[in-house]
Amino acid sequence: MKSQHKVDAIDLLINDHQEVKKLFKEFDALTDRSKAKKKSIAEKICHELTMHTQIEEEIFYPKVREAIKDSDLMDEALVEHAGAKDLIAQILGMSPGEDLYDAKVTVLSEQIDHHVKEEEEDMFPKVRKSGLDLIALGEQMLKRKNEIKEAELAA
Ligand SMILES: [Fe+2]
Ligand SMILES: [Fe+2]
Repeated sequence: MKSQHKVDAIDLLINDHQEVKKLFKEFDALTDRSKAKKKSIAEKICHELTMHTQIEEEIFYPKVREAIKDSDLMDEALVEHAGAKDLIAQILGMSPGEDLYDAKVTVLSEQIDHHVKEEEEDMFPKVRKSGLDLIALGEQMLKRKNEIKEAELAA
């Protein structure tokens, strides 16, 4: 992130989206022979997405639901998260080279693309207009992210 002090919640989320997009591209560029690399990138994607959706669901979405008064949009986002989590669990339970492994990563990438597009083009502009304090929210989200990371290191 650019600054240690003022983190805008939406910038934080967009930054995550871009990181994951890069990882999907890296995965896509690998040949069938680089199984270890495929596995490590797929696991990183799953890990990043799990943390991202958790922070959105715990902190960002509840505040946004209150602020933008568009419960259909928020409900759809939650259903899309649930779909992603299902695919993530399947991918983590498999290894590269198994049937449908690459297809599952590709479909996850497509679903995330769609979801990110809805967040960035529909949800986030509505949030910006709502006057929600995105700096305070960003601080809270960054703190939570660091807590999750610390808990993982301690485990
Ligand atoms: Fe997101
Ligand atoms: Fe999301």
